[in-house]
Amino acid sequence: MTALTDKHSLIDPFQRKIEYLRLSVTDKCNMRCFYCMPKGFKGFEQPGHWLTFDEIERVIGAFAELGVSRIRVTGGEPLVRKNLDELVHRIHQLPGVDDLSLSTNATLLSQHAHALYEAGVSRLNISLDSLKPERFKEITGSELQPVLDGLMAAKSEGFSPIKINMLAMKGINDDEFEDVVEYCIEHDFTLRFIETMPVGDTGIQASDHYLDLAVVKDRLAQRFDLIPGVMPGGGPARYVQVKGTDLRIGFITPISQHFCETCNRVRLSVDGTLYLCLGQEHKYELRPLLRQGVSDDGLKNAIMEAIAIKPEKHEFRDKPGQVVRFMNMTGG
Ligand code: 5AD
Ligand code: SF4
Repeated sequence: MTALTDKHSLIDPFQRKIEYLRLSVTDKCNMRCFYCMPKGFKGFEQPGHWLTFDEIERVIGAFAELGVSRIRVTGGEPLVRKNLDELVHRIHQLPGVDDLSLSTNATLLSQHAHALYEAGVSRLNISLDSLKPERFKEITGSELQPVLDGLMAAKSEGFSPIKINMLAMKGINDDEFEDVVEYCIEHDFTLRFIETMPVGDTGIQASDHYLDLAVVKDRLAQRFDLIPGVMPGGGPARYVQVKGTDLRIGFITPISQHFCETCNRVRLSVDGTLYLCLGQEHKYELRPLLRQGVSDDGLKNAIMEAIAIKPEKHEFRDKPGQVVRFMNMTGG
């Protein structure tokens, strides 16, 4: 099967329109969340393989010409890539890119919030799995305070929305959901709960801590008055709203209810590999083409060929443990 395309759209073999690219600008991270990489992980990509800013700009430009209008910058931790503000600015200038967002752990955000905002990032997703400093340290290996400072800097800079992503983990942070709800109401953040996925062999059994978000939602409904909610461009999250507040709570349920039928995205890793599905190994290497001087049309054709092998769905449930890639390579 081939990907159908006219000048302005990429359609995969399952008739899904691909309009969203997640760009990982580094696989490095200044945190060590236990569910993400194995302890002592050293298998980072060598710098010579990192796409340069020029190469990234070219690839995104080609995607944008093919109708991909939304770009999310991820990592690893994107803010550890040097001069990220400059890259973001260049992506923002590209014709056809009309939504530019960033996912970060926020540790370095206080220093960068202003420059990122000026460079054209409007929306932020920030990981926050606990508001208890000691527990936060156990989960991530890092201090909580810089993250909270980063969140406040983002808020005063005017990013909107700011979405907090919290992995719901049984026996780890499941006594804190209500506290995080209150925190988000207070600061006008959006909150999303995420089911833990079995990715790579991170040294923990993701399944030991897995929590079905339907259970979380029922529990929150006992304390808060939840009404149906919507969130513009909300992606795979299903939202409710806490009545009498502006808070929207999203539930991202890759395991209990997968949302592959509406998948609109692909992922580009720092070494120029396009991953067609978070839960599958289907991939397409763009770096060799870029370094062999591929033409603009050649690049667009390669992207279309890649989209033509996008799998229908992940199989986290049926074949847990199948995927060997760690989250730091594609940033979720
Ligand atoms: N399951 C689900 N999400 C994960 N992330 C990292 N590892 C996992 C996993 N095993 C996501 C989290 C985290 C972001 C950086 O990547 O949302 O906040
Ligand atoms: Fe870093 Fe995110 Fe992985 Fe945590 S989950 S180690 S913040 S890339």
